Amino acid sequence: MNRRRRVYEGKAKVLYEGPEPGTLIQHFKDDATAFNNKKHALIEGKGVLNNRISEFIFQKLNEIGVPTHFVKRINMREQLIREVEIIPLEVVVRNVAAGSLATRLGLEEGKPLPRSIIEFYYKADALNDPMVTEEHITAFGWATPQEIDEVMALALRINDFLVGLFLGIGIRLIDFKVEFGRLWDNEQVRIVLADEISPDCCRLWDVATSDKLDKDRFRRDLGGVLEAYQEVARRLGVLTENPRPKGSGPVLVSSKPN
Ligand code: TMP
Repeated sequence: MNRRRRVYEGKAKVLYEGPEPGTLIQHFKDDATAFNNKKHALIEGKGVLNNRISEFIFQKLNEIGVPTHFVKRINMREQLIREVEIIPLEVVVRNVAAGSLATRLGLEEGKPLPRSIIEFYYKADALNDPMVTEEHITAFGWATPQEIDEVMALALRINDFLVGLFLGIGIRLIDFKVEFGRLWDNEQVRIVLADEISPDCCRLWDVATSDKLDKDRFRRDLGGVLEAYQEVARRLGVLTENPRPKGSGPVLVSSKPN
């Protein structure tokens, strides 16, 4: 298994060469990082949960006609995906003021926005992923105007779907980040959803208590990170059969529960 060629390693995932040309294996690690890697920890079992949660969401999106890179889950930590050329943008959709938007504009966290807002950040760790506008994106050739339109339309469809999905399980979707890629299909290029959708890249607040069920628990040292991710997985109905062993040290996720 580990003889596979590693194509790319990010902060929370590794991409390996897939079984066929045009495919890759996306492996979810337990690493959690924040503030551009300044803060780092291992949260045992996070990768397993994110693999399941992201599988569930991408499958649903595929079903409603949102094209994605997702093919199928292979095991506890890995999924088969189609290889795409990643557009170097983090596309953030916001429904409620929080995080950097609340800070930047002096808004109260939790205040609903007048409408959903899309923001673009240029994917460049060395620059701390700066916010950019369509002007920068087209001038520097990161995406064409047509691609930006497509990305925005898809981002809003994904938002509409996710808001409803999460509301149905008692969760408010505050905001989230997605990434898109170009997929070549017989000479034709299509924009498809790539990367992942999980509590690592969403803000998810419990409707009743406003408890945070996402990576802000890690960013803000609130504790109970894994428990929050488990709760999201449980409500989505994708919690794995194996209860997670408690304690530190490496965890063999496929072993018998202890
Ligand atoms: P922000 O309020 O910090 O800009 O984050 C907006 C959303 O994007 C939030 O749901 C968290 C997510 N996000 C990422 O997935 N990766 C990142 O590097 C950052 C900064 C935010």
